[in-house]
Amino acid sequence: NDRLRDVAEDRDFEIGAAVAAQPLRTDPAYKKILRNEFNYVTAENALKMGPLRPDPGVYDFNDADAVVDYARAHDQSVRAHTLVWHNQTPEWFQEWDYTPEQLEEFTREHVHTAAGRYRDTVDTWDVVNEAVADDGTMRENLWYETFGEEYLDDAFRWANEVAPDTDLYYNDYGADGVNVKSDAIYDLVERMLDRGVPIDGVGLQMHALHEKPGIDSVAENIRRFKDLGLDVEITEMDVAYLPGDDPGDQEARWEKQAEFYRDITEVCLDEGVDTMIVWGVRDSDSWIPNWFENLTGDPLLFDSGNDPKPAYDAIKDTLANY
Ligand code: G3I
Repeated sequence: NDRLRDVAEDRDFEIGAAVAAQPLRTDPAYKKILRNEFNYVTAENALKMGPLRPDPGVYDFNDADAVVDYARAHDQSVRAHTLVWHNQTPEWFQEWDYTPEQLEEFTREHVHTAAGRYRDTVDTWDVVNEAVADDGTMRENLWYETFGEEYLDDAFRWANEVAPDTDLYYNDYGADGVNVKSDAIYDLVERMLDRGVPIDGVGLQMHALHEKPGIDSVAENIRRFKDLGLDVEITEMDVAYLPGDDPGDQEARWEKQAEFYRDITEVCLDEGVDTMIVWGVRDSDSWIPNWFENLTGDPLLFDSGNDPKPAYDAIKDTLANY
């Protein structure tokens, strides 16, 4: 068998991709790669608060359902992203002049409705995303300013009330290795565990862009979260280079990129992490060119012509020969 997902399944490994609803409706080549090569799916945007809540009191589950239904139809697990995040909230919500009671009620209702709807079809939720700032302080978002850090506890408890069998994760970027931010996340989730919060795991996003974490440091970081009794997943991986690190020609860059994907796959296998998700299917689907002009724009496993890249082979070989 030659497909990435088969090689992964032989190792009880989940190899995932972030997907968009639009190409699921219109792009046969995209769908073919997705169903053949991946056994785990996450919605890149469709399950975020902004897309789900176009108007006060209104939910639009069309895109989210399209992603979840496609995954279930193709025997793929689903990671849902995300219930509480300062980014991509609805515009009307950003302008809303709420009281603390109204914000609490709004958030509880959102978590109950979204997590409840997918209680039987989603395996994992990113309950709270990116609550810690890069310097290790708590991010000053509206929930933190209104309720303090216990807003995380509430979100996890509300999710657990309606989806007791779903794994509940805290997810963040720039905290892949041991550093000031992952130290702060470690302390945060330890306090949550002390308070009896139903948290199951920590997602390391692994956007390896401006800086790449050292591999030993990633291993050490994974171990300490696991020592707390938490699961770890690699949740949003992509690999790009600044001009100074870019070998310059595509062949050399793709080899270097493949090495990094290989190293992270190996760390996962070494440390008992059984899930790795890449943040998009083909290079042409990646968010990076829209956000960073100075980074190389080919961070994923498939090129823009639907062909697998060296990074794809690197992951497959590692899983097959570990
Ligand atoms: O489809 C909409 C359209 O309806 C809208 O009117 C138009 C104008 O804004 O743009 C389109 O929405 C864009 C959306 O991507 C879909 O392409 C949003 O503007 C744009 O902000 C959004 O960017 C997403 C970004 O999160 C938002 O912060 C990226 O696709 C998505 O890849 C990225 O994902 C995040 C994770 O959720 C969390 N971790 C970091 C990661 C990368 O930033």
